[in-house]
Amino acid sequence: MANKYKRILLKLSGEALMGKKQFGIDHAVLSQYAQEIKDVYSTGVELAIVIGGGNIFRGIEASEGGWDRVQGDYMGMLATVINSMALQSALERMNIPTRLQSAIEMKQICEPFIRRRAVRHLEKNRVVIFGAGTGNPYFTTDTAATLRAIEIEADVILKGTRVDGIYTADPEKDKNAVKYDTITFNEVYEKSLNVMDMTAFTLCNENKLPIIVFDMNKSGNLKKIVVGERVGTLVEF
Ligand code: GTP
Repeated sequence: MANKYKRILLKLSGEALMGKKQFGIDHAVLSQYAQEIKDVYSTGVELAIVIGGGNIFRGIEASEGGWDRVQGDYMGMLATVINSMALQSALERMNIPTRLQSAIEMKQICEPFIRRRAVRHLEKNRVVIFGAGTGNPYFTTDTAATLRAIEIEADVILKGTRVDGIYTADPEKDKNAVKYDTITFNEVYEKSLNVMDMTAFTLCNENKLPIIVFDMNKSGNLKKIVVGERVGTLVEF
């Protein structure tokens, strides 16, 4: 079956990597994610990944506790590099070629982010992981994922979460909440729905980058999306 997309950017939550732990990386979750990624990689889709760092450090929470926000954000960016390295290892154990690029140079550990090189890696069927966010404080990993997706001209950004899409209200709080299969960017603004932070969301809107929000913990979902099945919620124009 032909894939629906040629090149995708997958955004994974750092927090989800904790699994049932209070902190850090649950190896079972990491292996499961690597397996899901392997299944889509085998379809031949070009795949870039951005992973958050919330399982290790959250800049914004540190600043609420009185820390310096900028310092906290940089610590958060380093946390994303740790998760990226863990994911890189997990993928390599499954014989998937990967390249890790960081927005903050750390040459002993990974390549620096170079857009043209990242695109070349994708063309050579390597999974490219982007670490260290945008390299700037005050931006979330959702914004980093969006920025990278636009730069590499991905067809879609897939936001893997623990809910299976966008609802009329928070499904964890309101049992009458109804899931959208598709929704437009304008409707999300009008209804003040929380899909991504506004910087990330507006970047997607302005650059005509569709978003699919889906449950990454449900095995097989990622592959279904890539081959064109309707899973989660599609934010379209
Ligand atoms: P080609 O252009 O197709 O040969 O790509 P390549 O990534 O195989 O080329 P290169 O020879 O540059 O890289 C070989 C390995 O070194 C890869 O695993 C890269 O990720 C890694 N690498 C390249 N540049 C750096 C760097 O600046 N720092 C670190 N730590 N690794 C690097």
